[in-house]
Amino acid sequence: MRVIVVKDKMEMGKRAAALIAEDMRKKRGPYVLGLATGSTPIPLYQELIRLHKSEGLDFSTCISFNLDEYVGLSGDHDQSYRYFMNTQLFDHVNINKKNTFVPDGMAKDVEAFCEQYEAMIDDVGGIDYQVLGIGANGHIGFNEPGSSLGSLTRIKTLTERTISDNARFFARKEDVPTLAITMGIGTIFKARKAVLLANGAGKADAIKASLEGPVASFCPASALQLHRWATYVVDEAAAAKLTLNHET
Ligand code: GLP
Repeated sequence: MRVIVVKDKMEMGKRAAALIAEDMRKKRGPYVLGLATGSTPIPLYQELIRLHKSEGLDFSTCISFNLDEYVGLSGDHDQSYRYFMNTQLFDHVNINKKNTFVPDGMAKDVEAFCEQYEAMIDDVGGIDYQVLGIGANGHIGFNEPGSSLGSLTRIKTLTERTISDNARFFARKEDVPTLAITMGIGTIFKARKAVLLANGAGKADAIKASLEGPVASFCPASALQLHRWATYVVDEAAAAKLTLNHET
């Protein structure tokens, strides 16, 4: 595994964007991005926007699939992940919004929707680069501790910890949805490359457990230890508990 430790979250965004941009520029034909939400990837998206505006990074052939979405929130709700992606990235680059996919939090037949989402990813040849954040409890996407390491896209119940952590974005804790549709760990695992970002001391335990602990469903991010091309880009505070050597 490649672990890159940087000074702060701005540097984290720049390093991760450079990895993705280099890969995007190399590939002919459609480029398939796997995207994440949360506060962590915002500096990455800001840098991708800068690369688009000042260095011509081209998103016109990109197709994107987001990791997850809250059940019960439609795309125009300001806390939906569709809304987040539009405002944080898609509105500012030359991606065709018709080629951007976020799980449908309002799907009537959730099971059928999840199967279709997997099929759509497979049909375009799979994800080239998957962006990931990490929950304080080690979750990726909304794969909470205990998630099967082979899981595919499905509905999940959020843990109390995740609901409390995400309550800061909602007016009241009671407004945080308790269910989400999320790509599974198996879905994430199929991506050709993955980059996991983390910043701040609140992520230090999760980073330590996922990199230096056992591969185990109680820390879903630990599954990346088995991935053929996974890179962590974390700031010094999130890396503070690591004991093994890493790049800077
Ligand atoms: C949510 C998202 C995850 C994200 C996590 C951490 O639960 N589903 O994809 O990694 O929050 O969020 P933040 O980056 O705001 O700490």
